[in-house]
Amino acid sequence: MATTNPPKPLFLEDGRRLSGRNQTDLRNISIEVGVLKKASGSARVSWGKNIVLAAVYGPREVVPKHLTNPNAARVNFRYIMTPFCSLEEHGRSGPNRRSIEISKVLKHVFENAILINQFPKTQIDISAEILQSDGGTRISALIASSLALIDAGLPVKDIISGVSIGKIGGKLVVDLDKDEDNFGESDMPVAFSLRTGEILLFQMDGMLTVDELSEGLDMAYDACVKVRAKQVEALKSKYLTPVEQSESVEGA
Ligand code: CDP
Repeated sequence: MATTNPPKPLFLEDGRRLSGRNQTDLRNISIEVGVLKKASGSARVSWGKNIVLAAVYGPREVVPKHLTNPNAARVNFRYIMTPFCSLEEHGRSGPNRRSIEISKVLKHVFENAILINQFPKTQIDISAEILQSDGGTRISALIASSLALIDAGLPVKDIISGVSIGKIGGKLVVDLDKDEDNFGESDMPVAFSLRTGEILLFQMDGMLTVDELSEGLDMAYDACVKVRAKQVEALKSKYLTPVEQSESVEGA
């Protein structure tokens, strides 16, 4: 949520961001795939101070039945912040307007990523719980969910990678943290299928010029290449033996 007040310097004197990052640096990302035994698939993502747990259940019978699609799986997405994920008020633990909006946009991302026509008359439930938040939780939820779907063995068109680009103190930066999001001028979460180059999520809060938008998309693409590498590494460490992993590094 970009806001204009209170004004806060978001750069150090040497031009680096308050976190010490340069304009295109990502926060640290660590990922573990397959963390829940009873889900069809799961993943935990720590991205900076964000911590997200994503779980996938299904394909399974559609409830209520009248929502059944005879030609494709129905995708449900539930993004929710836990009451303890930050010091802000979260309206207890129930959904609110923001979480309903984020759930809706992420549902559409995965309707376009899963081969839903292979699973008619079923539903696939994706849940992303925000355990700790510090800006960029929808993107952390998205990358965790993409891996949970793969862990569930569901056929997908691609691993989905994402990042938020923002404008702070007049400069475009990659991967906003909460202060940059709250006190910056603009916030633009984007997700790509890098295999096809398709943009699967595009949102914007605040204002950017057309040139900034185009430059921001290029920055997002480059950052997503790095995010995807982390996602692939996490899948390899879950599914390849240590020997296969070292062979895949040598062969890369
Ligand atoms: O998290 P994301 O950047 O996708 O969404 P946002 O609406 O731009 O929120 C930015 C940040 O504000 C979140 O990551 C949280 O750290 C914080 N926030 C919060 O703590 N509680 C809320 N109800 C909304 C936002």
